[in-house]
Amino acid sequence: MDARQLKVEAARAALAHVGSGMRLGIGTGTTAEEFVRLLAEKVATGLEVVGVPTSERTAALCRELGVPLSTLEETPELDLTIDGADEVDPDLTLIKGGGGALLREKIVAAASDRVIVIADRSKMVETLGRFPLPIEVNKFGLRATEIAVAAAAADLGLSGPVTLRMTGSQPFVTDGGHFILDASFGRIPDTRALSNALFAIPGVVEHGLFIGLASTAIIASGDGIQTVHA
Ligand code: 5RP
Repeated sequence: MDARQLKVEAARAALAHVGSGMRLGIGTGTTAEEFVRLLAEKVATGLEVVGVPTSERTAALCRELGVPLSTLEETPELDLTIDGADEVDPDLTLIKGGGGALLREKIVAAASDRVIVIADRSKMVETLGRFPLPIEVNKFGLRATEIAVAAAAADLGLSGPVTLRMTGSQPFVTDGGHFILDASFGRIPDTRALSNALFAIPGVVEHGLFIGLASTAIIASGDGIQTVHA
């Protein structure tokens, strides 16, 4: 099975958890997009759901495929969110934000009764940190925030490049109008400590460590589907 087929299989397994009448958070990224495509097929044959998208990109795909949408303002409590991840550890702590949607993804996940993460086996790690940690920051004071992030990490014994995410020659701008720093600290043994240290920096809007948010991970590999509960 190729990488895309694994994403489809994880998405298909997640769809089995979706029932009529559900208020769904809908994630961002290539795996979440496979879920949207399968969901749209079900909607076309009568499944009644309302989705709250975690990005403008996901919202556009949902509109194109006919998945009914709401906003978190109209629908502030969700039954289930289905989203991808960049890394998943055995406790279901995640790194997210590779697609730049971490802020809305975290807000939507926190508003959901359950969060199912869908991923292929390559995303499973013993310790988070192989994937650079996305940190969403205010544009104001960018350099000062970069310095503060590096210093906070150093206090925890972490180091590595902290780079501004670019799209071509321009900084990448999130749906919330912020920048993203990608922090290549390597292994992050204490995610809670790093989370607290980053939140203590005024210019940090959000970071891509998702701690205690995922209830289930559906992991696809050539051997089949593995379901892990938190
Ligand atoms: C977007 C995300 C994505 O869920 C994450 O980057 C995984 O994406 P993909 O399914 O394309 O590998 O967090 O902000």
